Amino acid sequence: MIAQSFIQELLSRIDITDVVGRYVPLKKVGGNFSACCPFHDEKTPSFTVSPAKQFYHCFGCGRHGNAINFLIEHNGMSFIDAVENLAVYAGLQVPVRPAAMTSSHVSESHLSAAKKEGEQDKAGGSMHRMVESMSIAARYYRRQLKNANHAIDYLKKRGLTGETAVRFGIGYAPPGWQNLAAVFSDYSLNQAENVLVKAGLVVSGDDGKHYDRFRNRIMFPILDQKSRIIGFGGRVLESGEPKYLNSPETPLFTKGRELYNLFAASKVIRKSGRALVVEGYMDVIVLAQHGIDYAVATLGTATTPFHIQKLLRQTDEIIFCFDGDNAGRKAAWRALENSLTQLRDGKKINFLFLPENEDPDSYIRKFGKESFEALLERAQPLSEFFYGELSARVNLQTSEGRAGLVQHAKPLLAQIGAPVLALVLIKRLSQLTAINQNELEEILQFKRKSSLSLSSPKMKRPQPTTPYRKLIQLILHNPAYAGKLDKNVLAGCDEQNDEKTLLLALVDFFNSFPPEVLKDAASLSVKAYFCDSPCYELLEKIEEEVNIWEEGMDIEAEFVGVLLRLQEMQRKQRMAVLQSKPLSMLTVEEKRELQQLAMS
Ligand code: UTP
Ligand code: MN
Repeated sequence: MIAQSFIQELLSRIDITDVVGRYVPLKKVGGNFSACCPFHDEKTPSFTVSPAKQFYHCFGCGRHGNAINFLIEHNGMSFIDAVENLAVYAGLQVPVRPAAMTSSHVSESHLSAAKKEGEQDKAGGSMHRMVESMSIAARYYRRQLKNANHAIDYLKKRGLTGETAVRFGIGYAPPGWQNLAAVFSDYSLNQAENVLVKAGLVVSGDDGKHYDRFRNRIMFPILDQKSRIIGFGGRVLESGEPKYLNSPETPLFTKGRELYNLFAASKVIRKSGRALVVEGYMDVIVLAQHGIDYAVATLGTATTPFHIQKLLRQTDEIIFCFDGDNAGRKAAWRALENSLTQLRDGKKINFLFLPENEDPDSYIRKFGKESFEALLERAQPLSEFFYGELSARVNLQTSEGRAGLVQHAKPLLAQIGAPVLALVLIKRLSQLTAINQNELEEILQFKRKSSLSLSSPKMKRPQPTTPYRKLIQLILHNPAYAGKLDKNVLAGCDEQNDEKTLLLALVDFFNSFPPEVLKDAASLSVKAYFCDSPCYELLEKIEEEVNIWEEGMDIEAEFVGVLLRLQEMQRKQRMAVLQSKPLSMLTVEEKRELQQLAMS
C-alpha cells in the first residue's frame, strides 16, 4: 500500500483545478471554479472546484472528493493508477513496497503511464512522433559537437567542462541549410503533415522548400517535467542576431509554462527547499557546474503565474535572481506582479539583484559558490522589494505622494492570495503613509463594508449588541442556557469589561442550581442575589431589554449565532495580538497559528 504521508505530500504538490481542468472546462466564479457536472447531465453548472479546500463538489448529484477521487470517478482509474498519474505530473516518485521493488520499477511505471496517455489521446500519435524527432535531432546535434572544434573551444572559453556539456545534453547545429534532411527521411513532406515543421525544427519557406531552423549554433535542449525534449535554445558562437534563437511555440512547447532545467533540478529543489530562478541558459549551466543545481530559467519570456505555480508546488521558497540594471529591475517587477495571485501564506518569494554588469554566470566564476550563496541569503523579501519599488515612484514627504502610494499598492494588494501576508503588507503601508490601518483596510476594501455605512459615513449605525450582552439576555430569558455555555470559550477572551463580568457571575449563579429548577430567572430571585453587586445596574438594564423582546424569537438560533460571533471576536483578538509582534519575533507555532486564524 502507498503510505498516507506520501498521499498527503502528493495532494499538497498538485492543484485540483489543474487536474479537473484537464477534463472539464472550468470557469472562475469568485474564489472557486464552476462547470457543468461531468458526472451527471445538466444544463446549468452545479459542479464546483475549490482551490482553497482542494476539493470538488456537485450540488446536483452530490459527488465530491479530492484530485485522486476525481481521477478514479472520472477516468475509472484504480487508486494506484490515479496516484501514479498524479505523481508523474507532480514530479514525485511513488514509494513502492519492498516486495515490489525492482531496479526498473520506476521507469516501467513511467512507461505505462505514458502508454495509457497515448491510448487516450487521439492526437497522441503526432505528439509522440514530435517527441521522437526532437530526441533524434538532439542526438544529431550532440554528435556534431564532437567534430566541431570551434564550438568546443567556444564552450571551453566560457568555462564549461566536457562533463557539464554532457550533463546538459549540449550540442551543435552546423552551418548549412538542410543538414537535418540527412537525418530524417520525411524532411520534405508538405507542411500539413510535416512533423519536423510542427516541432519547430524545420521551417518551410514561401517557395515551399524546407530548411533547418538552427544553423551554426550551440544547442541547448529544453526538457519538460517528464524529461521529454520539447524545444531547443540555440546560441550564436560569437556575435550575431538573435543571440539566442529558441524553438517556436509548438504543441509540445509552451514557453509561458516551461522552465529550463526544471526536470533535472526538481529533486534538489524539493530537498533544499528552495528554487532559484535566473535569466539565462548559461546561468543555469554554470551555476550547476559550481554546485548550485537548484536553478531554473525562464525561456526568454517574463515569469508567468504558471511558472510560479509550478515552482511553489515543489518548494516553499523561490529566489529570483536578476541583473542589477534597469532591465533586471523591470523583469523582477514583472515577476513580482505575476507572483501575487500564486502567493500562499507560508510561501516565500525573494529577490536578489546582482551588482551592475554581472550575471549569475560571471559572478560565480569570479567569486565562487560560497560568495554566491551568501548573496542568496541576503535576498530581499517580496514585501521589501514591493514597497521599495512603489515608494520610489512617489514622494512620501507629501500627502499627495502618500496617497499615490496607496493608489499604486491597491490593485496589487487585491491580488494577493495570502491573507496573512496581505495584512502584513497593509500594516507596512499604514506605517509608510501614516494612515491608520483600519482606515486603510476600508480604503482598500480589505474588509467587507456594508453599503449603508458607505453611503452615509456620518450617520453612525446603532452599535450591535455585544455577544456578552446577548448571552446575558438569553440566560435571563432562559437560565438553562447557562448550563450550555462553555466557560472556556468565555475565558478565551482577553479583554475585561462589565458585561463579561456580569455574564460570568450569572453563569456561576445559575449553575449552582440543579438543572430541573432552571426554568425561570425570576423564580430564582436573581435580582435579590445581585442587589449588592457592582453589576446590579447593568443587570437591571439588560433585564428590561429582555422584557421588550418580541414574541416568537428563535432563541436556539440566537444562541448558536452569538456563540459564532464570540468565536469570531476571539479569533480577531488573537490575530491582533499575534500581528502586533514583528513576524521575526513569532515562534513557529505562533506563525502556524496565525496562518490558521487568518484562513479560518
Ligand atoms: P541574456 O542576453 O541576458 O544573455 O539573455 P545570457 O543568458 O547572459 O547569455 P550569454 O551569457 O551571453 O550566453 C538571457 C536569456 O534571454 C533569452 C535566453 O533565454 C537567454 O538565456 N534570450 C536572450 C533570447 O531568447 N533571445 C535573445 O536573443 C537573447
Ligand atoms: Mn551571460
